[in-house]
Amino acid sequence: MNIHPDEYVNDLYDEDLLLTEVIRTIQERGMPEVSVAPAYGRLLTFLVQTSGAKQIVEIGALGGYSGICLSRGMSEEGRLTSLELKEEYAALAHSQLTKAGYGDKVEYKIGPAADSLEQLKIEGKKFDFFFIDADKENYPVYLEYAIELANPGAVIVGDNCFLRGRTLNTEKNGPSVQAVRKFNELIATDDRLVSTMLPAYDGLALAYVK
Ligand SMILES: C[S@@+](CC[C@H](N)C(=O)[O-])C[C@H]1O[C@@H](n2cnc3c(N)ncnc32)[C@H](O)[C@@H]1O
Repeated sequence: MNIHPDEYVNDLYDEDLLLTEVIRTIQERGMPEVSVAPAYGRLLTFLVQTSGAKQIVEIGALGGYSGICLSRGMSEEGRLTSLELKEEYAALAHSQLTKAGYGDKVEYKIGPAADSLEQLKIEGKKFDFFFIDADKENYPVYLEYAIELANPGAVIVGDNCFLRGRTLNTEKNGPSVQAVRKFNELIATDDRLVSTMLPAYDGLALAYVK
């Protein structure tokens, strides 16, 4: 019998009861079930921890799953700024991060992320880590803000670069697909970045800001 790689890897680890509860709450509330996968969450923890990032931006909070994973990688001085369109999602995410012990290390900025990013730029803020996981049409906008708000050596992670195959389907050319293709091309070609794109999960972009 062949076991699916995701299942095999998940079975290597003890069940993460806190994150199971986050998923259960998302299901109960009828919210979109689009949190990052468990091993992907561990990758976020790993990247924050190994990069030593202190100031982190998350674009798209949903129910707090990726927020907990990012926070787990932070040192004592680490802070998460999470940008979320919907107030009720941010409130849930905050309650989940509080249960996880990170409630006082996270600040939620409610509203369109592009507006929050512009505000952070006006305030002269700088960050060490960006996780982009929100509306796809704005991915190129989010990437440019991330580069502008980055300290040298910052890490940028972008999710859903394949759009469940639509990015790779030449017959699909809607606004989200075009925006994500542009994002992927920028990640690959922008001289300010060192990058790679992994054909894992739904397509995972990883970049380092020079
Ligand atoms: C894929 S979900 C995020 C999942 C989350 N990162 C996780 O893995 O736990 C996308 C989130 O982006 C939010 N969102 C959509 N459009 C947005 C916008 N313009 N600005 C900020 N957040 C937005 C949605 O409300 C949703 O919560």
